[in-house]
Order: sequence, then C-alpha cells, then structure tokens
Amino acid sequence: MASPAHSQIATAPRPETSGAAPVAAHVAIIMDGNGRWATARGLPRLAGHRAGVEAVRRTIRSAVEHGVGWLTLYAFSSENWRRPAGEVLDLTGLLRHFLRSEIRELHEQGVRIRVIGDRTRFDADIQADLAGAERLTAANARLTVVVALSYGARAEIVAAARAVAAEVAAGRMDAAEITEESFAARLSTPDIPDPDLIIRTSGEQRLSNFLLWQAAYAELVFLDVLWPDFGAAHFAEALAEYARRERRFGARPG
Ligand code: IPE
Ligand code: IPE
Ligand code: MG
Repeated sequence: MASPAHSQIATAPRPETSGAAPVAAHVAIIMDGNGRWATARGLPRLAGHRAGVEAVRRTIRSAVEHGVGWLTLYAFSSENWRRPAGEVLDLTGLLRHFLRSEIRELHEQGVRIRVIGDRTRFDADIQADLAGAERLTAANARLTVVVALSYGARAEIVAAARAVAAEVAAGRMDAAEITEESFAARLSTPDIPDPDLIIRTSGEQRLSNFLLWQAAYAELVFLDVLWPDFGAAHFAEALAEYARRERRFGARPG
C-alpha cells in the first residue's frame, strides 16, 4: 500500500519530536498575489493562477515534510465571484483540472481532502468531483488539506446563527444552550482544530473574510512574496516565525 515516497516521508525526522520548537498543528494560508505576479511579467492573470497551482503542490509537500497535520488553503472567496466572468471561468477551469489530475496522487501521499464554503455555486461536475475527492481520501491520516472554496466567514457565521435559531424555534434547543461550543459545532469546521498559524502572501495585511471565528487566537504571518513564488523556504520561514511567538490566549505571560 505504501509507495516509496510514502515511506520516505514517514521516516523523515519530525520536528515536533526532535526537541525543536513546536510545529503549528494547523496552518492556514491566504494564497494571494497571482495577478500581480503575472502582471509583473507582462502575462495574463491566468498565467499567475496557473503558477499558483504549482505553489499549492509545493506547499502540500512542505506541510507533509514538516509534520503539519492540517493545512487550510483559501482558494476562492465568496467575494471572488465578483471578478470578471472570464477570470472566474479561468479559476473554476483550473479547479476542475486540479481535481481531475491531482487527487489520485494526493491520495497516494496519504492526504485527506476536505472542502469548506458554498460548493453549490460551482458547476455540477465540479461539485461531483469535490465530493469524489472527499470520499476517496476520507480515511487518509497523514495530512488533511482543507480547501476553502466560495468561502466567506461572515456567511458561515450567519448560517450557524440560522441553524441555532431554527433549533430554538422548533423547541429542540434552549437559548441558554447556545454556547461557544454548540455554536462552533454548527460552523463548517466542527471537527477541524482552530488554525494556529495564518500566513498571507503578497504583502497585504488583512483577513479578507477568512476564518473570522476560528482565527481568534491564530498567529498571523504576512509575507512579502507573491503566491506563485511561495516555496519550501517561505513555509519553513513562517513556521520558524510561529515557533518564536509566545501564545498566551489571554492568560498572564510567563
Ligand atoms: C489570489 O491571487 C488568487 C485568488 C484570490 C483566487 P489574486 O488573483 O488575488 O492576485 P492579486 O491579489 O490580484 O495579485
Ligand atoms: C483573498 O484574496 C481570497 C483568496 C486568496 C482566495 P483577495 O485577493 O480576493 O482579497 P482582497 O480582495 O485583496 O481583500
Ligand atoms: Mg488578491
């Protein structure tokens, strides 16, 4: 069952067991800057998105090598539908191609795929391929890649609010039972740990409606690199920066 690549990764020293600083268990990335990368080269934006897919491949490999358990990739926001139709078509086309060409290999690497966001806005064949990818990889345990597609945190929070309101209205839940835990259980991430580290590339320093609830205590790292140029060294740099941070969760330092 295990391919040679598989066993190589399994025997690589894992930083969290080697006495080094702790590795972030869940890394989430706002993959930004594809358009600027292309424009700087006099290329169409599509070329930047294509190069961005290569960076996704590299990043998944880096996450496995560092022993990160969860990697969330912000691939398409609920607001990205507002882009020109041609660019939306290019992006959905790349998603379709990625699902058809990469999933088998990711499966062989032991990657589990999860999707969050409003997948119903995509074409039926893409929805079917997303469901197929989740089904095929459901039992994999090396790394879970959560792909945020047509994802918006405010919409996610509103949907959870609507769900608890419906249960209270139906008499199945008491208002006093609405707690952080019961509310979070109705978000799209009930079984996913909160991100420890959120990386945004491209130099922008904002969250753009990404994981607003789950990011409450995430460490934020903003890198001055455009997403298509993001590689293993940047991933390692962000993890090293995370390891230097002191996380307090509101408690007294020390
Ligand atoms: C990120 O790159 C990809 C998506 C948001 C889908 P952008 O397309 O936002 O690139 P910039 O920010 O315009 O450079
Ligand atoms: C955030 O990037 C969304 C993704 C990376 C998928 P955007 O490029 O859409 O964000 P803004 O518009 O600069 O805030
Ligand atoms: Mg952008």
